Amino acid sequence: MSTIISPSLLSANFYNLEEDIQMINNSEADWLHIDVMDGVFVPNISFGFPVIESFQSKCNKPLDVHLMIVEPDKYVERFAKAGAAIINVHYEACTHLHRTIQNIKAQGVKAAVTLNPHTPICLLEDIISDLDMVLLMSVNPGYGGQKFIPQTVEKVRALKEMVERKNLSTIIEVDGGVNLQTGQELVSAGADALVAGNFVFKSENPLETIAQLKKL
Ligand code: DX5
Ligand code: ZN
Repeated sequence: MSTIISPSLLSANFYNLEEDIQMINNSEADWLHIDVMDGVFVPNISFGFPVIESFQSKCNKPLDVHLMIVEPDKYVERFAKAGAAIINVHYEACTHLHRTIQNIKAQGVKAAVTLNPHTPICLLEDIISDLDMVLLMSVNPGYGGQKFIPQTVEKVRALKEMVERKNLSTIIEVDGGVNLQTGQELVSAGADALVAGNFVFKSENPLETIAQLKKL
């Protein structure tokens, strides 16, 4: 199976989102990654419902929504209504993670848990069979364009081992500092899906860059 590519809208041109959404529609990208930041869970604020709703009907790729917010339960229903196909919540932001996951699934949306770089894979042992996807952060969340944390490759390997040991089909996605080189290392270690922000949107030919990532 080819690598799932989820370009991160955070690095798009917000003055002309229409152009970037059209590029995504015409590209080989599988999903569109949407980074929602609240200024509390992470030291940055991005965008919310009005922005997502404004392009939701124009984007023909499933929306892979990454919630970098505290108390995500409060907003799961609204993100589902805004068009999310996948909702990623942070392990570190959920006290009652099992309830949150059931809440996401009840909306008919795929459920994913995201781990910060310092959060160990073993904490997923008792929840992974309920998940459609795990998103591993390979940078500290909050900003695009940061440097890849190399220990992530080992985490991907350990997570792949857990998925296989339990005979699951959980998707492994990685987010932060992805380019052709880090992307190749991640895919070789067992990653199924790659998020890429700056590497796609700041490249000279984003369509071609997506096509190259897709071949990893
Ligand atoms: C970081 C976000 C990422 C970010 C990735 O907090 O979760 O999705 O947009 O950007 P790059 O690929 O530029 O590191
Ligand atoms: Zn993200």
